[in-house]
Amino acid sequence: MDRIDFIASLTKGLKSVGDCGIDHGYTLISALRDYGVSYGIGIDVNKDPLEAARLNIEKAGLTDRTQLFLSDGLQEFEENVKEQPEGLIITGMGGSLITEILSYDLDLSKSFKRLILSAHNDTPKLRYFLINFGFKIIDEYLIEENGHIYEIIVANSEKIDRKYDYYDMVFGPILRVNKGDLFVKKYSLTLEQTKLALQNAKDPVQISKLKMTKAMIEEVLK
Ligand SMILES: C[S@@+](CC[C@H](N)C(=O)[O-])C[C@H]1O[C@@H](n2cnc3c(N)ncnc32)[C@H](O)[C@@H]1O
Repeated sequence: MDRIDFIASLTKGLKSVGDCGIDHGYTLISALRDYGVSYGIGIDVNKDPLEAARLNIEKAGLTDRTQLFLSDGLQEFEENVKEQPEGLIITGMGGSLITEILSYDLDLSKSFKRLILSAHNDTPKLRYFLINFGFKIIDEYLIEENGHIYEIIVANSEKIDRKYDYYDMVFGPILRVNKGDLFVKKYSLTLEQTKLALQNAKDPVQISKLKMTKAMIEEVLK
């Protein structure tokens, strides 16, 4: 299963879903066609990707089951959507941008039954935001595609029933406990890169940061 299909599979059980940063539209198309979602909302801040999504959705014969918005995050969508979707997908952007989009209206973001999130960088920042602003991380997954290992987070606004520490933010509260093959692969590689960087580092601040990263990875891989 590729990354897009895997993300789409996480919409199973939802009646409707929004995809913010829809780009090509393939995730929403798969959710509608293969995973039982009846209605989809697509959002993109740029005209060209939104037009590409429109054409792909038309080709797939799904136009009457979708509504598309040109919008920066959830702004336009919030004012004009016919019916709010049960789930929201935001994937393929940086963790800071995903955090900004969710922060725009916290009540709106918390009203989704399921958030499906995947940042291509700064995932610890995204986890920090979720944990500290009233969201609960329900599931976490890793998926490898074209040599890159992507982290995928499923969250909602259920009450958090435990405390999280710095290791949870960095490695993921669920991923670090499950410690699957991809987790070990991802952090074994990062450990090797960190050791190499340590051998070449000269700046004392950089050296102490690298030493901390090395110690944390060694601890989590134990
Ligand atoms: C790299 S693509 C990711 C596409 C798809 N979600 C995926 O995971 O493959 C990022 C998309 O997000 C859109 N985007 C970036 N910032 C956005 C924002 N603030 N609001 C809505 N869409 C945004 C971009 O125009 C682009 O189409």
